[in-house]
Amino acid sequence: MRRWQGEGIYFGGDYNPEQWPEETWSQDVDLMRQAGVNLVSVGIFSWALLEPSPGRFEFGWLDRVLDLLHDGGIQVDLATATASPPPWLARAYPETLPRRADGAILWPGGRQAYCPSSPVFRERSLELVRAVAGRYAEHPAVVMWHVSNELGCHNVHCYCDVSAEAFRRWLRERYGDLDRLNDAWGTAFWSQRYGDWAEINPPRTAPTFANPTQQLDFLRFSSDEQRSQLRVEREVLRTLVRQPVTTNFMIGLGVKHMDYHSWASDVDLVSNDHYLTAADPRAHLGLALAADHTRGVAGGNPWLLMEHSTSAVNWQPRNVAKLPGQLRRNSLAHVARGADGVLFFQWRASRAGAEKFHSALVPHAGPDTKVFREVCQLGADLKALAEVRGSRVDADVAILFDWEAWWGVELDSHPSADVTYADRLNALYGSLWRAGVTADIVHPSADLSGYRLVLAPTLYLVRDADVEALHRYVESGGTAAVTYFSGIVDANDHIRLGGYPGAFRELLGVRTEEFFPLREGERVHLDDGSTADVWTEWVHPDGAEVLASYTDGPLPGVPALTRHPVGEGAAWYVGTRLDDPATDKLLARLLAEAGVRPAASAPSGVEVVRRRDGDRTWLFAINHTDTEVRLPAHGVELLTGAPCAGELTLLPGEVAVIREDRV
Ligand code: GAL
Ligand code: ZN
Repeated sequence: MRRWQGEGIYFGGDYNPEQWPEETWSQDVDLMRQAGVNLVSVGIFSWALLEPSPGRFEFGWLDRVLDLLHDGGIQVDLATATASPPPWLARAYPETLPRRADGAILWPGGRQAYCPSSPVFRERSLELVRAVAGRYAEHPAVVMWHVSNELGCHNVHCYCDVSAEAFRRWLRERYGDLDRLNDAWGTAFWSQRYGDWAEINPPRTAPTFANPTQQLDFLRFSSDEQRSQLRVEREVLRTLVRQPVTTNFMIGLGVKHMDYHSWASDVDLVSNDHYLTAADPRAHLGLALAADHTRGVAGGNPWLLMEHSTSAVNWQPRNVAKLPGQLRRNSLAHVARGADGVLFFQWRASRAGAEKFHSALVPHAGPDTKVFREVCQLGADLKALAEVRGSRVDADVAILFDWEAWWGVELDSHPSADVTYADRLNALYGSLWRAGVTADIVHPSADLSGYRLVLAPTLYLVRDADVEALHRYVESGGTAAVTYFSGIVDANDHIRLGGYPGAFRELLGVRTEEFFPLREGERVHLDDGSTADVWTEWVHPDGAEVLASYTDGPLPGVPALTRHPVGEGAAWYVGTRLDDPATDKLLARLLAEAGVRPAASAPSGVEVVRRRDGDRTWLFAINHTDTEVRLPAHGVELLTGAPCAGELTLLPGEVAVIREDRV
């Protein structure tokens, strides 16, 4: 791992000077300085300009941009520029174009129109990386390298013949021989047995449900193919440059197909892009979850927010602008949750192209705007927060998250279409957020020993080793809670026999003989007053104590919520979809049992998170309500410099960061 350089918090964004006449560039640098910008990402979509025809490179303009930025004291995160190939590539090599499952070609004219398995793309892109890295390795402005851009954003699944061949190679590597593949895929079913590798294809559009393990392996393969572009670019960079290497992940609910837990070891620092639906009143919960998850992927280390938006985006049906103050709250919420840099897409709003209505640091209307004033304010805020850089975030709770479980649970032909991966994750996370409790979102194989409470929402697919680790965690005093439709299958998506929830039966001390998913809109009640919907199941306690049972629905009298003492700890099972108040009540009991306390006792609607470096701590408080609130705090408020002796007053929509006195 290469260390990040520099002091303080990074601040800036994507800078696309090639979209503007050169006269604009020096004005850009002046405005960047005015705003306190210290890092910009350059060259992300510049391939067609850097290599206007095959093998002919033109670096003059980029030389001038980098020199200008350096003279202005602005550091550069330099792109390898491979994000989107120039039109000449597809003309010369049409086989580099990706195909959808139905065979349709995805043509150039947008971006990322390449087959991720194409050897031609691979070769041409690496040639570009060598040229760019060779030229700028020693440029004094460059402090970081940015591989490609949002790998897999538009082309993660390619079903072309080149990809089919690559998929076969990947499968041979995984299974060795065809018998093992046939077993793993359960091809005794529906006459699917393969007698030759050449018979195997990606799960192209079929008359009916494709083999689930074939689908799952294709998702694994596709994530690996994208990851391999990152790895080969990184290898080239390793030999030519000394700065740290990153690529922007897209961790946040909605982006499903890149298994970033497996990618994290390929970068020197984890960076993430996050966009919210500004119109959604709960958008700040999604933001917090994405940030906590990014930190989990980064192994608890500080990370970089590579992109978010100053205001509206261009790609939602209604692109609602951020209200005054929202930019600051959003940005500082990321810092609270471990970001050591806040960057945006993009510096100057484009005047042409598909993203011309996307907000930027400098809007179309210029610097005399609410957005640019808030950008300058944020620059000052981040400067005031320089000292938090490098600190880590306090979290006593872990939520287990596995992209493979997500892929598995949302395959077709399951008991209920209402069971989605995000659903219970959001519900549990929401309850923790309301309680002021911070969680790390981690892979099931993570070290759990430092947590007081571990939550496993909808962990449908789980590996034996991870089940055993959770068991040991509970035995040695931990508290765990598992929600329904967890532990159901192994890594091949084969049912774990003997009763549900399969892999977790022993830990949870229950055995379910049959699922009873509910009809659309149907509700059930529990004898502890809780309400639930979507899911019920015929649970038999097998060592667990019953905490609540159904009073109605298909299974009156059957347990819905159980607790199983195991060793020094306990494992809870939630067999139904509790509504929010019931989930809050459940979480309150779990937090009490596990001895987890909030970062501060704040009124509801106030987000509180603590960062820590040795014995120095900083409390972040963000008031998402429209009323003034008070909470206990001792120390100095860094954004204003004001002392805070015992109580902090936060105006509606305001943010405070307290360097806490040791008490
Ligand atoms: C990201 C992408 C940027 C820009 C932005 C718009 O997905 O990396 O290049 O397109 O979205 O929100
Ligand atoms: Zn392909």
